[in-house]
Amino acid sequence: MHSTSQRGLFLTLEGVDGAGKSTHIPFIKRYLEDKGITVIVTREPGGTQLGEQLRELLLHTPMSLKTEALLMFAARNEHIEQVIEPALTAGHWVLCDRFTDASFAYQGGGRQLGAEPIELLEQWTHPTLQPDHTWLFDLDLHLAQERLRRTRDMDRFENEAEDFFKRTQQFYHLRAQRFPQRFSIIDSSQSIDSIEQQLAQHIDALI
Ligand code: TYD
Repeated sequence: MHSTSQRGLFLTLEGVDGAGKSTHIPFIKRYLEDKGITVIVTREPGGTQLGEQLRELLLHTPMSLKTEALLMFAARNEHIEQVIEPALTAGHWVLCDRFTDASFAYQGGGRQLGAEPIELLEQWTHPTLQPDHTWLFDLDLHLAQERLRRTRDMDRFENEAEDFFKRTQQFYHLRAQRFPQRFSIIDSSQSIDSIEQQLAQHIDALI
């Protein structure tokens, strides 16, 4: 079994809004804890006091595309320095709802900044840190939109047009193709039970 003298693993969840990733966080946390692993659950943008303030701005205040990308990475830098790295070093696992793949997908793809500026920011902010495993929750965009509209008030990203989400999803798929070892794609149209079975298998393989 995983010992605490080792560095912990960094797990991330990704997918377009409404694809259902957040539903599975409590299951993953419980599953890891049952195996004796301490897991820190966190999210981006956010995860620190300053990061949560930046999240509020990012989700609700109109701003230029570059500013949006920079603030995502500003929040991320705080998060890495204050939460993610210390936890991993202490041997804890970190389960993060979105990370830099979301910047590639949303700012690079959705907002059409392209991958290059995101790569530059990634290189500056976290040249070596990468998730050990990423679950990409994948769902037909119409179904995802329907789920969203049923369940909540929409923020600045969730209110975007269909083309925005098409580009976002395409960039997620490109990320998964580029890093096939790190990514598992979860078909979110399946039942919660069968998704949980797959998640459990992936976690068993990581332990
Ligand atoms: P989300 O996981 O959807 O939060 P919630 O489920 O509470 O609504 O994340 C918030 C939004 O932030 C989401 O629409 C995607 C966006 N986002 C980016 O555009 N770039 C990023 O780098 C990150 C981390 C998130």
